[in-house]
Amino acid sequence: MADDPFALFDTWYAEAKGSEPNDPNAMALATADAAGHPSVRMVLLKGHGPDGFVFYTNREGRKAGDLHANMHAALLFHWKSLRRQVRIEGAVTLAAEAESDAYFASRSRDSQLGAWASDQSRPLDARETFEARVEEVRARFEGGAVPRPPFWGGYRVTPRAIEFWQDRAYRLHERRLFTAQPDGEWSEGLLYP
Ligand SMILES: Cc1cc2nc3c(=O)[nH]c(=O)nc-3n(C[C@H](O)[C@H](O)[C@H](O)COP(=O)(O)O)c2cc1C
Repeated sequence: MADDPFALFDTWYAEAKGSEPNDPNAMALATADAAGHPSVRMVLLKGHGPDGFVFYTNREGRKAGDLHANMHAALLFHWKSLRRQVRIEGAVTLAAEAESDAYFASRSRDSQLGAWASDQSRPLDARETFEARVEEVRARFEGGAVPRPPFWGGYRVTPRAIEFWQDRAYRLHERRLFTAQPDGEWSEGLLYP
């Protein structure tokens, strides 16, 4: 019987929170566009569980364009302090509106205003242009709550495979690959390092 990969992830993530100098929730997100061209960038994990791993972003940026053309992605955590890596691959769905609303509401006001002001992935002529837009939205929402922009929200990567890599002596690294089965169970195999 395979161990539960989500329980193992929780254990490693808790250990990373205790040992990483910053951003234990930072993960590389790899996408590919309609032509199959890959791209990768860092995002922050903001929710996770058996239904998937959630990050938030501008839904008009490059990664969103890739995802809307090809709803598959890969995630990679590298916890250097622990010499561990976790790779996740799966299908991507939009987070529920209420879920995105709740997360947006939990952010600092400056982050909320930044989400409104950012034209992510588009060229910017000068830093001052962005700062002027932040001031413009600050004035627009003065005295009230900042609503979630319609172009900003979450994505969930629902894994079909999760691989845990642990550094071991003599380069005998340990790799455990969990693969989702059609019946919803997970099967586990060891890989050569
Ligand atoms: C540690 C770290 C965390 C980041 N987290 C996020 C994030 O959660 N969401 C996001 O949209 N961009 C995040 N970024 C910025 C992205 O890496 C990227 O520059 C931006 O989202 C534009 O990506 P795109 O043009 O591929 O859409 C983060 C960058 C770093 C270095």
